[in-house]
Amino acid sequence: MEPPEAHGAHGSTVLAEVRGAVGLARLNRPEARNALSPEVMETLAQLLEAFDADPAIRCVVVAGGDEVFAAGADIKAMRDRSFQEALVSPAARFWPRVAACRTPLVAAVSGYALGAGCELALACDMIVASETAEFGQPEIMLGIIPGGGGTQRLARVVGKQRAMELVLTGRRIGAQEALRFGFVNQVAGKREWLEKALEVAGVVARRPPIATRLAKQAVLAAEEAGLTAGLDHERRLFEIAMATEDRVEGMTAFIEKRPPEFRGR
Ligand code: CAA
Repeated sequence: MEPPEAHGAHGSTVLAEVRGAVGLARLNRPEARNALSPEVMETLAQLLEAFDADPAIRCVVVAGGDEVFAAGADIKAMRDRSFQEALVSPAARFWPRVAACRTPLVAAVSGYALGAGCELALACDMIVASETAEFGQPEIMLGIIPGGGGTQRLARVVGKQRAMELVLTGRRIGAQEALRFGFVNQVAGKREWLEKALEVAGVVARRPPIATRLAKQAVLAAEEAGLTAGLDHERRLFEIAMATEDRVEGMTAFIEKRPPEFRGR
């Protein structure tokens, strides 16, 4: 395991670990239920950017603790924020920084993922949930609305009617309901959620890294573009994948009936 400093993490509110080719970012502010303060957001964004810039890291898991993934944006830090301050808040810059991460991200959610915590899970590419996980967008109860992509990503993932209900009522859903909604990829036992997420990330990390990044970009384009533009974009990315050495190796290994050796080229 490399020291956290190798990936630029500072402070103890976000812990960095490296397990093989998987980077693990763990929110660690239990006394505030992992509320995403400006400091936590800055530290997490810096860590994700450092993992993204490291060619040895091929997939990243974003996790919290057993009890809480994250209870949302820091309400105490937000309460006295003026309109002008909200416009330039670090939170506004945080979300595009997470979205700009080219490395696939897996959220490992145990306990509460509320408000910005739910949005952070949604900003990841896959979600592995503990059976104890509870997701929700309770902002409406505070007199605000989700501000980290919740309305947009949630509606795309679960559909408009369900998103409306969650955003307008603030109702929380458990792991099994989230699985039925197609919101989470997998539900794991309460002692296995992190290992299961690391397992999924480990599988992605063994795939050729240029192709996984292109595939992530291509799938995300489905949400951005109309079908014709999306298909066109996918074709360009496919052609780039065809230009890599890894795809020659992958195809040759298949034909020679041996495991491929991907080099990220
Ligand atoms: N911000 C700041 N502090 C928070 C917090 C948050 N989002 N969530 C919890 N805390 C703090 C509490 O104030 C409390 O602090 P003190 O010890 O100083 O009193 C401490 O964490 C423990 O909280 P609880 O006693 O409430 O813990 P619990 O285990 O009984 O309940 C919980 C856990 C259900 C997550 C509950 O804390 C809760 O409902 N939190 C708020 C959830 C919420 O409304 N999130 C949305 C935030 S707004 C947002 O995220 C905007 C956006 O989209 C960008």
